[in-house]
Formats: sequence, C-alpha cells, structure tokens
Amino acid sequence: MNIRKIIALLVCLPGIFYAAAAIYWTEVEPGIWKGIVGTPEDYDLLKVAACKPASEGLSRLPEVSLPALADKIRGEVRDGKTEISVPLVKGEQLYGFGLNFQTVHQRGKILNLHVDHYGGKDTGRTHAPVPFYISSDGYGVFINSARYITVYAGSGSRKDSPEAPEALDRNTDKNWKARPYSDAVAIQVPAPGAEIYLIGGPTPMDVVRRYNLLCGGGTLPPRWGLGFTQRTQRLYDADMVEKEADEFERMGYPLDFIGLEPGWQSKAYPCSFEWDATRFPDPKGFVGRMLDKNVRINLWTNPYISPASDIYEQMYPHSGSHTVWCGIVPDFADTEAQRIWNDKLAREHIDLGVSGYKIDEVDGYDFYLWPDVAEFPSGTPAEQMRQTYGLWVQRTSADLYKKRNQRTFGLVRASNAGASSLPYVLYNDYYSHQDFITALINSGFCGVLWTPEVRGSKTGEEWLRRFQTVVFSPMAMINAWSSGTKPWSFPEVAEQVKEYSLLRMRMMPYWYTEFARYHFDGIPPFRAMNLEPGFSPDSGVTTELKNGNLEDNPYLEAVTKEIKDQYMAGEYLLVAPIFTGEKTRKVILPKGNWYDFYTGDYVGNGETIEVTPGLDRIPVYVKDGGIIPMMEPRLHAPAPGEKTDIEMRHYGQADGDYRLYDDDGVSYDYEKGDYAWRDITVRRQKDGTLRGFISKPLKGKPNSVGKVTWKFMTEPSHKGTNGQRTQ
Ligand code: GAL
Repeated sequence: MNIRKIIALLVCLPGIFYAAAAIYWTEVEPGIWKGIVGTPEDYDLLKVAACKPASEGLSRLPEVSLPALADKIRGEVRDGKTEISVPLVKGEQLYGFGLNFQTVHQRGKILNLHVDHYGGKDTGRTHAPVPFYISSDGYGVFINSARYITVYAGSGSRKDSPEAPEALDRNTDKNWKARPYSDAVAIQVPAPGAEIYLIGGPTPMDVVRRYNLLCGGGTLPPRWGLGFTQRTQRLYDADMVEKEADEFERMGYPLDFIGLEPGWQSKAYPCSFEWDATRFPDPKGFVGRMLDKNVRINLWTNPYISPASDIYEQMYPHSGSHTVWCGIVPDFADTEAQRIWNDKLAREHIDLGVSGYKIDEVDGYDFYLWPDVAEFPSGTPAEQMRQTYGLWVQRTSADLYKKRNQRTFGLVRASNAGASSLPYVLYNDYYSHQDFITALINSGFCGVLWTPEVRGSKTGEEWLRRFQTVVFSPMAMINAWSSGTKPWSFPEVAEQVKEYSLLRMRMMPYWYTEFARYHFDGIPPFRAMNLEPGFSPDSGVTTELKNGNLEDNPYLEAVTKEIKDQYMAGEYLLVAPIFTGEKTRKVILPKGNWYDFYTGDYVGNGETIEVTPGLDRIPVYVKDGGIIPMMEPRLHAPAPGEKTDIEMRHYGQADGDYRLYDDDGVSYDYEKGDYAWRDITVRRQKDGTLRGFISKPLKGKPNSVGKVTWKFMTEPSHKGTNGQRTQ
C-alpha cells in the first residue's frame, strides 16, 4: 500500500477528521433501522402516505443484523442542506431510485428526484421519483424526505478516499477514464435534516420486501381489477359506452371495468366533478345498467377545480395560491380540503356505484403545474406539495372506499415512497414499448405498480406485441381516449388478442395470489431478473468491454450488463417480450430448469437461449416445479362467493409446493382474517408419475375453488434433474 493510501485510510477513521458524523441507528422494525441527521422536517413521505408497517409480514423475514456498512454512513447539515454519504464497494450495483424507464443499473448516475412527467431520459424527473435504492450486496437506503433530493449514485471521488483512483495521463494511458472510480453514494437533501432508513436483506429481494412491508404491504386489488379494462374515447356518451360494453360481450372479449375519459364531466381541465347532462342525462341509471352487465365504471379526472363546480367557493380558502388551467388546487395537507373533495366524489359518483378513478396530471409538466413559489394554506411548501400530490390524491380517494369496506383499483400519474399499499397503477403519455417494459421492471424496486398500456399502433404486429405484454402486467388495459381503438381494431390479429385477453382471465387465480403475496409478504408481483435467485446477467453480456474491466469501472456495467427487457411475473413466470420488427430474441434463464409456458417443453438452465416464437406468442417460461392455477375462461371476474373450476398446471419434473390465496375479492374483510390459503402440492409417486393434492377448504373461510383438475405440462421424457432431455 502506498503512503497516499495509508494517509487516506487514517483520515477515514470514524469521526476523527471527517466533519460528517456517523449516524446512530435504531431498529424500528425487524431488519429496518432508522437514523437521523440534523432536524428532519415534520412533513415527510411516510406521513403523507399514512403508512402503517405490516409487522406480521416483517416478522416472517429472516433475522438480519445491522448491515456492516452502517457505521460508515455519514451525515451532516451544511449550508442548510443535509448531506449523506453511503460507501460503495467494487462490483456493487444499485437498483431503484424510482420509476426509471431506460435503465435498471443506477450506479454512476446523477439524479435529481423530482415528480414530473417523464421527459425521455432517466434524470430523476419521473412519475415516482422514490428516494430508495437497493444494493446488490443486500441492503437498502431510503431517505424519508419530500424534497427534491439530488443523488450522486457513485459519481465523484473524494481526495481522501481509500479507494481513490490513480491520476493517469490522458494522452498516453489507455486506461484513463473520463469518469474515474467513485466509492460512495452522496445524497443531498435541501432541508436542515432528514430521516434515513437502512434496510437489511440478506438478499436484495428481502430488502424490497422489507421496504414494501414498511409501507404497509403491497396493495391487494379487487379480483375484478385484475380482469380486462378498456378506456373509451373522449366525448363518449352513455349510449356509446353501453353499446361498447355490449360489443365486448357479443364478440367474446372480456371486460371488467370501463374507464370514461374527458367528456363525462360538464367541465374538464379544470374539472367540475359533475356529470355532463347532455352526454350522461341519468348517471345513476347508467352506472346501474353497466353494473348489471358486470362492468364497473372508472372515471378520469384531474384534481383541479373549475369555477363552474359547486365546490369551488367552498374549496377556495383551502386551495393553493396558484391555479392549474385556471382551476384551484386543493391543499390536501388540509383535512378540510380532503373532506370537501371526498364528499363531492361520494355524492356525485361513489354513491352511484362508480368503482374508482384515474387521477391525471398530478405529476407535471412544470409549465402546467403550480410553480415552486406557490403557497398553500396548510403552510406546506410548494416543493413538498409537488413531491406528494400524487400520494395525497391516492390516499384521500382510497380512504373513501376503505370506509365503505369496498376495494377500488385505479390509475394515477404521480406517486412517491410509501405508496405500496395504495390501490393505484401508474401510467403516462410516453409510448416507447421497450421503455414501458423497463418501467415495469423498475416499478418492482420502488413499491409502485405500472401498466404498459396499449393505446394505438401503426400495424397489427405492433398492436399484438403491445397487447401480449399488457396481459402480463398489473393492469391489462387499452387506453383508447384518443385513438378510439378496441381490442379487435386490427382484424388480422383480433383472434390472437382475444386469446391473450382470455388467458389473462384464465390466470386470474395466479395473479390474485401474487398480489396477496405482495400484500402479506411484500413480494412485488412484477420485478427485475436481478431479484431472481440464480440469475446472472453475465450470460447476457452482448457488448464487448473495451475500456478496462468492470471492477475498475462499474459504469461500464450499466450499459453492457443490465437486463431491461425480460422480467419475472409472479413466483414462477419469466416473461420475455418481443418488440415490433423482432422475430427472434435472446432470453437469459436463471439457474434451474425452465420450461415453455405453452407447451411444457424443457428450454434450458442458467444459460442464454435464442427463441423465435412467431407473432402469435410472447415468450413465457416457467420454473421447474411451477404451479399455475388457471380458471375457466370468462368475460368477467367471478363474483364474491362464486366458485370457479380450476385447472392446476404443473411444469417440469420437480415436486411442486404452492399456496393459493382466496377471499371474497371485493371487501377489506381479509384485514380481519377472512381469507384462506390452500396448500397445493405435487409429488412424484413410486411409479414415477406425478400426483397433485389440494388441502381441504378451511371451515368458515372464503372458498371460491370449484372442481380441481390437474395438468402435468411436461412430458416425463423431458427429464429435468441435470437440465437435459433423456429421450
Ligand atoms: C392525459 C392522460 C391520457 C388521457 C388524456 C385525456 O393527460 O395521460 O391517458 O387520459 O389525458 O385528456
């Protein structure tokens, strides 16, 4: 070790030369420690989201001790701002920092976490800029602040760093780098204090689970929320909506809820929240008739109140200083504003049977929204209001439904930390199919749900390719607000679209169980391969590393090794979308045997395979021993208490162990214990065949399982133990 390194090491000894102090950590939940720097503000993300940690779920996670790096995390208040530094080691990768669209690996990034409409680059300005990241080394860091936080996620080198890179001569040394090695994440919070959560693993997946459980556990949508939803074209009237629902039924396409886009209100942008009497002369009759058809109504709105609304005067003193499209902006940090808004929604919509909302425009753009100089009567600074407005509208409207013991499932365009338990899915106006999939992957790192919604397409191929992916996402939706498209809009692929929408319905027991796991255990239903045991991006390296190795330059890894076009959907499925124009693609299989979802055939083990599935198929693979419960194809989700027959599919050669979740599908009674898990097991018998078993229904608990049949998808000849076929 040279003298410079020794000096640097001495300088780094805790508390001696560093101005920034070590942080005192207190364990607040199992495996979650809180530290305080300076004087944190009263207003923070977890308070706005009103999170109640899901202690039971947390207690089921493995015990873990304070991460070793805890005493090397430093914090101080300088120049009125809180500066936090978290060490990094070589080879470590970072995930998270909110809903990014183009990248999964975040090491080396400089981000300004700011709620905004996504502008085409991962800069930190996004719909859910959640200040939480996960290290590949199995710990996570969450900053509970509603400020615009700047993060240098391993960018910038201290002169006293023990790992300080050597200065090289650019002219003569080919190892010279424009971005030398950095050994820390530096976080700047523009406030005189902040709460920091250090979240233990041991695995990155455990970190994500702990974070979601800290935020109350994941949301459990009503069963119907996992069916198919169509958003009709703007300016539709009641007749057109009813006809459209009838057309779905007649043509045999599933439909669980229909979204009304602008046109149902007497005024929009800003909104009146009142029905337009010409297009919807009898809202109560309309909603009732739709419910009779088994189709629920979801209403688009933004929260900005038109002078034409009858709550304008009442809300005026409880709104911000600036308007949005000349509508007033409710100050949701003021309980009176919440009450006025909720009363209006209840009176005009929910009492009539409206099932939920799409709450638009709560993210940005800057030139629409209130500026940072705006004032709010609650005293909340405009910056904090911007960072939390999406949380406020979700929480306020969700509370309304919860009070009625009725679940909702809707859409929102902005969110932040603390949102895991809120029944909303994010979407936006951007439309890159590839980036929509990367966003779906990243949503699993930050406690939000994302839909790669289908809107329009240039060709039948694009239509089908987009449709195939939205079926494997939290909300299977066509948003036809502008295009007026229907599932059958491209006749050349209308049958394939129908097949996939019915597959979505058939898989409802699987999706529902996966959301129960999100709720009770914090496991995100849609997530990155990086969280999957046995996954190694190494087998996917496609670009030659030209400049040095990854040890010395972790930034290279971000562009060469990140996998952002395949993901895990629930416990057993690996989804590998194909994009328009592609005929073939590479799929990286984690270790273990994997099987084709459609045929049950063995496809590989811990390797990269090349697949050419044809237009009719999105590649989907199942883990060895995977069990997928499929109900009969239906056009609507089963009603509470209704029984459906289930085909239990088993894949591969390994024994299977699975738990199928059940409850009434619509209420919050599950919070009082009114739910059931049925044990499903598949065991190899002495004669070599596989046999499946399901545990008895629990007495007095919900049971929607009808007749069970078993389907062993993999031929016995596709032996799996050594990853080879033995035929
Ligand atoms: C946009 C929204 C679209 C659609 C449209 C209606 O802001 O992202 O999905 O709802 O408004 O005007």
